[in-house]
Amino acid sequence: MLRRGFLKFLVATPLGRFLSGVLAASTSSLAIYFHVSHTDVKRGAAGGERVIALPYPRLRGSVSVEEALANRRSVREFREEPLTLEELGQILWAAYGISEVTYGLRTAPSAGAQYPLELYAVVGERGVEAQGGFLTPGVYHYDPHAHTISLRKEGDYRRELYHAALDQIWVLTAPVSLVFTAVYSRTARVYGERGRVRYVPMDLGHAGQNVYLQATAMGLGTVAVGAFYDEEVARILDLPAEETPLYIMPIGRPLTRYRLAEDELVRYFERRRRR
Ligand SMILES: Cc1cc2nc3c(=O)[nH]c(=O)nc-3n(C[C@H](O)[C@H](O)[C@H](O)COP(=O)(O)O)c2cc1C
Repeated sequence: MLRRGFLKFLVATPLGRFLSGVLAASTSSLAIYFHVSHTDVKRGAAGGERVIALPYPRLRGSVSVEEALANRRSVREFREEPLTLEELGQILWAAYGISEVTYGLRTAPSAGAQYPLELYAVVGERGVEAQGGFLTPGVYHYDPHAHTISLRKEGDYRRELYHAALDQIWVLTAPVSLVFTAVYSRTARVYGERGRVRYVPMDLGHAGQNVYLQATAMGLGTVAVGAFYDEEVARILDLPAEETPLYIMPIGRPLTRYRLAEDELVRYFERRRRR
């Protein structure tokens, strides 16, 4: 009875919603912290998992939000050039990194601060330049709390991923593809079915747009790919059963740059206002 009353308070009042967000944030970030410090480090020692510290993210850039919004386009043709480790780190941070250090809140909003998404980078052969060489090709998992990636599976899996994505060639030609997955239960345990069908996809949209905007601001390009065989992607990435793949986002240097000129946009509006 008391429990039901407390739950009602948590969801039905503004103060309750605020508190549930804060509680959720603190417990989930603690859980993630311990997950990383125990599970991953142990597995790293036993299984030879390699952990790579990413360069710290830059919090200043030279492109305004307005310019990034205006010049963002889905990019499907990439140059045959690697990303740098700095670029990969910056994109991962923008996607789902830490932007608040008390509760471990992220660059993307998340319902109840439950952070249901996990983020992987599928790195191709010579896909990422690092310290005068290249990152070992493979599937890397991003740890936002340490801003590191750990190698989960060695090998160039771009061709397999491309086939899993219905032969969309940009998945093969991009030097790196990010893969977002979701652990639905993180959000569903707080919000039930509404969390599952509404909030998790909304969370994904926010993080995906962060990738688009950060890529655009850095002169890189991406495209959100939602068409793929889930089971195939899960197999390629060796995903745990609780994780569902949601987006593949190939990242690379665009073959051509899209630029919107202000006067072009003004002419567009004026023509429509005259109608
Ligand atoms: C949920 C979702 C799924 C998408 N899936 C694909 C896809 O599988 N392949 C692809 O090439 N583009 C995909 N796109 C990109 C859209 O085609 C693109 O956003 C749209 O054509 C508008 O172009 P713009 O992004 O340049 O504004 C997807 C976009 C969204 C939001």
